[in-house]
Amino acid sequence: MGVIELPYTSDIAAETDPIFARVENVIPRVEWPIHAPYVAAINRLKAERNAVILAHNYQVPEIFYTVADIVGDSLALAIQAAKTDADVIVLCGVHFMAETAKLVNPSKIVLVPDLKAGCSLAASITAADVRLLREKYPGTPVVTYVNTSAEVKAESDVCVTSGNAVQIVEALHAPRVIFLPDEYLAKYVASKTNVEIIAWKGHCEVHERFTGNEIRRFREGDPSLIVLAHPECPPDVLAEADFVGSTQGMTEYVGELAQQARARVLLMTECSMADNVSGRYPNVEFVRPCNLCPHMKRNTLPKVLHSLEAMEYEVTVPPDVAERARRAVDRMLSYSRPRD
Ligand code: 13P
Ligand code: SF4
Repeated sequence: MGVIELPYTSDIAAETDPIFARVENVIPRVEWPIHAPYVAAINRLKAERNAVILAHNYQVPEIFYTVADIVGDSLALAIQAAKTDADVIVLCGVHFMAETAKLVNPSKIVLVPDLKAGCSLAASITAADVRLLREKYPGTPVVTYVNTSAEVKAESDVCVTSGNAVQIVEALHAPRVIFLPDEYLAKYVASKTNVEIIAWKGHCEVHERFTGNEIRRFREGDPSLIVLAHPECPPDVLAEADFVGSTQGMTEYVGELAQQARARVLLMTECSMADNVSGRYPNVEFVRPCNLCPHMKRNTLPKVLHSLEAMEYEVTVPPDVAERARRAVDRMLSYSRPRD
């Protein structure tokens, strides 16, 4: 798709200045004339189509702060997708998040700005792999991270996100579970429960690059540094962290730190996370080792606009797969009630 540049007129400036006020400490003023015409056009079209934009915490600030109606981690987006009464859901995140939205609210049109926005974890396992694991460990519940395809979810007993994995594994009251596909999240869950965990070898291509040594080097410069890490990071990173949690968990933790006079925070997660959290808590100073998720970064304002104009790219799930996958996601949501 070629990007057509939209003009920044005085009307657009007047319409979008109040929106810029929300992002002025994360988006430089000089960049606003590029974003503002898209922001205005998207917000207008969203109303016309009765659409809602759900954006993950790793989206760029110009999507996260100016056109998104709901922002959050994978769990929050799934919960909100299930609840929305909009006709159209535009999911600014990655493909598995859009499939999850379709599963929990099948009557809606679910669109993604770029169909190629995948995920290395989702790509690491197939439905046939899960069936083989079931044969190898008969009777063992299959617990599947939402970062998977609908086909893989369809072979699973229950889904989890990084925000509820420990809680759900414990709630199953099984002596052991098959936990797919993130090896590091599986290890993290194993460290928090007495349940035996059979893991897979999937990794997040963004978080697997962080090292514990990186944290130690940053701490040499400032021993008071507070380190937050996503549980997709390798165990040596999590061992050094002061807090481990989902992207929403990290945001809430920064909110607590923001009450302190001066907090310096090292975020071991995707680049845009620090931009988005710092927009909300400008008094917290962030150290940003910053690994980029190339999939999340496929989404741009021009692509979001195109998505609403052309009503593409629609994400659907074949009915036989959807029925079984929905059971695993619904089961997760039923365990997650306290959050909504
Ligand atoms: P969260 O559910 O914590 O937002 O994580 C999703 C993800 O893809 C992290 O890499
Ligand atoms: Fe997948 Fe990692 Fe990107 Fe999250 S950050 S979408 S787990 S590749």
